[in-house]
Amino acid sequence: MVVSIEHLQQHIGETVDVQGWLAGSRSSGKIAFLGLRDGSGFVQGVLAKTDVDEETFRIARSLTQESSVVVTGTVRADERAPSGVELGVTGLKVVAETEGYPITPKAHGVDFLMEHRHLYLRHRGPWAIMRIRDELERAVHDFFGERGFVRFDAPFFTPNAAEGTTNLFEIDLFGEDTAYLSQSGQLYAEAGALALGKVYTFGPTFRAEKSKTRKHLLEFWMIEPEVAYLEHEGNMRLQEEFVAYLVGRALENRRVELEMLERDTRSLEATAQGGFPRLTYDEALSKLAEHGEALTWGDDLGAPHETILGGLYDRPVFVHSWPTKTKAFYMQPFESDPTRVKCDDLIAPEGYGELIGGSERIYDYALLKSRIEAHGLPQEAFAWYLDLRRYGSVPHSGFGLGFERLLAWITGVHHLREVIPFPRLLTRMYP
Ligand code: 4AD
Ligand code: MG
Repeated sequence: MVVSIEHLQQHIGETVDVQGWLAGSRSSGKIAFLGLRDGSGFVQGVLAKTDVDEETFRIARSLTQESSVVVTGTVRADERAPSGVELGVTGLKVVAETEGYPITPKAHGVDFLMEHRHLYLRHRGPWAIMRIRDELERAVHDFFGERGFVRFDAPFFTPNAAEGTTNLFEIDLFGEDTAYLSQSGQLYAEAGALALGKVYTFGPTFRAEKSKTRKHLLEFWMIEPEVAYLEHEGNMRLQEEFVAYLVGRALENRRVELEMLERDTRSLEATAQGGFPRLTYDEALSKLAEHGEALTWGDDLGAPHETILGGLYDRPVFVHSWPTKTKAFYMQPFESDPTRVKCDDLIAPEGYGELIGGSERIYDYALLKSRIEAHGLPQEAFAWYLDLRRYGSVPHSGFGLGFERLLAWITGVHHLREVIPFPRLLTRMYP
C-alpha cells in the first residue's frame, strides 16, 4: 500500500510503500541511511546489511541523489525524527537513476540556487516555505469567506495607472494602442464593492521597479479587499484582524515548517494576539527624529525609516493619517484637516518593511475629479472610475497586502525571491 510521508505516523508497525526520491544518503559497511522525500514530507529509511538481501543493500549504497525510488519498509516510531517515524527498509525499486544532480550537500551561493530554482524547490527550505505559502493562500480565502466577502478578480491588462505612473509596464497592443500591466486591482475592486458590498481580489501585480532591493519583485501577489460603507477606523481594524488571522494560521498549521526554517516565532506569537500599536505620521516623524533620522514633513518613509519604526515593537505597527501630498490621488482627506488623508501603512517588525497600504477613498465626485486633474492623470481613462461617484456613491475603504512581504516576514527569509516559486526580478527571468 502506498502511503504519503505526512501520513506515516498513522501506520506504525505496518509495511508500506513510499513513492519518492532520494534526497541524500550516508552509509557504512553495515548500515545505510536513505533520506527520502515524496513531496508531502521527509523521512529517513534505514537498512541494516543483515536484514536485506545483498542486492538490495548494494543498490541502497550506490543510489545517487535525486534518483526516483519506490521504497518498501516497516514504519517505526522514532521520537528524535522530525516526522516522528523512520522506515525500516525491506525493498527498493529504482524508477529513474539520476546522474550529476547539480545541487549537492555542499553549500551553494544564492545565484547558483536561483539559477537552479526548478530543482532547488525540492529542498527542505523552499519546500517548507511553499507549504506555508499554500496554507496562507487558503487562509486568505477562509478569512474573507467566513466574513461574507466575495472574491472578485480584477483584470491584469489596464488602460491606466492606479498607483502612480513611474513603475508601469507598458504593453504594445499591435501598434494600435497601449495597455499596462496591473499595478493594483483596487480601482476595479471599488466597482466590485459598490456591486457586491464586500469584495477582495487576490492576483498577480506588476511593478517596473528598477531598483534592486530585497523587498521588491517585478511580479508579486496582492490581496485587496474593498468594502462599501467602511470607514478609516474600521479599515484598520480589518487589517489587524486579517494579519493576526494569517499569522495565527501559520503558527497553528505550519509549526513543523517554521521549525525547519529555524524561525524564532516570538514576534509571530505576539502578532497573532492583535493589538497593533498605532502612530500618526507626525508621531512617526518624532520617533524617527529621536533615533537620529530627521525627516521633513511630507517626506515618504524609506526602508531605513521603516526598519526603525518596525523595530520599536514586537508586532506590526500602523503609521496613519499621512500628508495628502505624499499619498495617492484617491485618498479621502480628513474633514477637519484636508492636508492629511485617511490612510495607513502597516509596517512589519524585524526589518521587513511595509506589509499593507490602505485608505478610505474619496467619494465626492467633484473632489475626485479635481484630484485626477491635479495629478495629471488622463480623464478619459478614469471616466468609469468617476461614474462610481456619480451613481450611488458611498464612503468606502480598502487595502492591499503584499503577499510576499508577509511571507518573507513570517518565514524569516532575507529576500522576497525565496517565498515565490519563480521570482521575477530585473536580474532574474530564468528559469
Ligand atoms: O502600498 P501599495 O502601492 O498600495 C496599493 O497598491 C493600493 N492600491 C492598495 C489598496 O489600497 N488596495 O501596495 C500594497 C502593498 C505594499 O504595502 C507592499 O506590501 C506590496 O504591496 N508591494 C510589493 N511587494 C513586492 N514587490 C513590490 N515591488 C511591491 N510593491 C508593493
Ligand atoms: Mg504603499
